[in-house]
Amino acid sequence: MIKRKNILKIAIDSPAAAGAGTLAKAISNHYNLIYLDTGKIYRLISYLKLKFPKKFNETFLKKKIKYLKIKDLEKRDLITDDISAEAAKIAKNKSIRKIVHSFQLNLAYNPPKKYNGSCLDGRDITYKIIPDADFKFFITANLKTRALRRYKELKVLNKAISYKEVLKSIKKRDKSDYNRRISPLKKTKDSILLNTTKLSKRQCFLKIKKIIDREKNF
Ligand code: C5P
Repeated sequence: MIKRKNILKIAIDSPAAAGAGTLAKAISNHYNLIYLDTGKIYRLISYLKLKFPKKFNETFLKKKIKYLKIKDLEKRDLITDDISAEAAKIAKNKSIRKIVHSFQLNLAYNPPKKYNGSCLDGRDITYKIIPDADFKFFITANLKTRALRRYKELKVLNKAISYKEVLKSIKKRDKSDYNRRISPLKKTKDSILLNTTKLSKRQCFLKIKKIIDREKNF
């Protein structure tokens, strides 16, 4: 694998709807890093599985991932509850994870030249994808806050779902993400914990920025 030297690598892990994506995007913009929401890849795979159940196999998937561009991940509506639930199931599949990992590694260690580095968020980024990241963060928030944030996000998109249903589905996903055997969600010892429950987006961003600037003498 090609590894670009002297790049800034940021690894973020978090449970569902903790605000990691919003934060990672702001940090990536600020430091000119390529940003990858790795959950979107599992979501895209779920979408493909639900849409093309007959075609869906390893060869089909390898081809899709081989030609995958980050902007493809923005195209489709991947936030639905069905896709979220399927993504958590798919994420337990060892061979699917293997296919996805090489895509993630390449982006993390060999971002396009116009970027100063990379920022990835997901469930196993801090210990499996970028174990030597310059900064590792574990972003979390309490369950009810996360469910409310996701509920509001879905409402804006006109999805017919109640707060209770969102809460139930996030609870189920947490259970699966934290307890699965393959690449479970966990906070590594060397990750900095940020609980976003009582913080605004701006406050979260400033906290992370302060940590990075202090260390990097920006
Ligand atoms: O982050 P997001 O909620 O979009 O992720 C959807 C699902 O994909 C998660 O519930 C998790 O099971 C899976 N995932 C994963 N590893 C990652 C990112 C996401 O297993 N690095």
